[in-house]
Amino acid sequence: SVQELEQIFLAKIEQEIRIEPKDWMPDAYRKTLIRQISQHAHSEIVGMLPEGNWISRAPSLKRKAILLAKVQDEAGHGLYLYSAAETLGTTREQTINDLHSGKAKYSSIFNYPTLTWADIGAIGWLVDGAAILNQVMLCRTSYGPYARAMVRICKEESFHQRQGFDILMVLSKGTPEQRAMCQDAINRWWWPSLMMFGPHDSESTHSEQSTQWKIKRMSNDELRQKFVDMIAEQVKVLNMTLPDEHLKWNEETKHYDFGGINWTEFWNVVKGNGPCNKQRLDARRKAWDEGAWVREAASAHAAKRKMRQEK
Ligand code: ACO
Repeated sequence: SVQELEQIFLAKIEQEIRIEPKDWMPDAYRKTLIRQISQHAHSEIVGMLPEGNWISRAPSLKRKAILLAKVQDEAGHGLYLYSAAETLGTTREQTINDLHSGKAKYSSIFNYPTLTWADIGAIGWLVDGAAILNQVMLCRTSYGPYARAMVRICKEESFHQRQGFDILMVLSKGTPEQRAMCQDAINRWWWPSLMMFGPHDSESTHSEQSTQWKIKRMSNDELRQKFVDMIAEQVKVLNMTLPDEHLKWNEETKHYDFGGINWTEFWNVVKGNGPCNKQRLDARRKAWDEGAWVREAASAHAAKRKMRQEK
């Protein structure tokens, strides 16, 4: 009976046994995973756009090669994640349609513009740094294919974060203009990076259930605090500052206190009204339309090959 199946499922979660695609799972578990994994996949793919903006303008051949590799990594992450979502019974077409129609969410962070080269550094350091903290936790998530995809993704993200920090390190030791550019990028990306972790735990609709099912292993606020503690130290190495007058080490809690997040801005961006939401979705739809001939050619090739094999 369903009750027995549910008992078996919950026992596996309890015993830290991964749930695999062919195992029985509650519909709501399947649904929330499809939601989260496809949002995650979209974030990787849309996330290529702000950085892609600087590939043709990277300051040297070496920087260009690194950035190109990094943006390609993000495409790979998107593809593993779409595949992980497919193991739950959704199709690639469905998930991509949902992105293009504006129905599916993707991370708020990718709706901000990359105005200078220093933004590429700030994205690597702050945005990928935030992504890693969240994804290291997801390496232990209860759904097998998602957890396994995260292992490789985290290794690649660590390289991304290092390259970002390295860009800012060089700028921070440069001319006064370069230093100012570095500080300006940090100022603009800091608060949006904190928003990546999602709403406060008290406002987070899915947290309670996702924690019970061990999809989430740490809460939005716990991860955000971890991030603040980490970056507040690293920024000192850059000799730069974070744009928060309330940021202060708290000897009692052994954490940094920090100022309030602008949640109105966050929800505005999530609902589609951020600085670049329209531009991002337009770019994705255009890429999809312009790639139609590639998909058709690949399908025709696959059909021909199959026919030859059958002969
Ligand atoms: N941007 C856009 N939407 C967000 C964000 C954000 N930064 N944070 C939360 N939301 C949305 C949630 O998707 C949810 O909306 P929905 O019900 O329509 O799906 C709503 O706000 C409420 O949030 P929560 O209940 O806290 O949602 P959840 O439990 O899914 O936690 C989190 C959000 C932490 C982002 C989780 O989904 C997660 O870990 N996702 C995987 C990691 C990921 O997507 N990273 C993308 C950025 S990193 C990168 O791509 C390089």
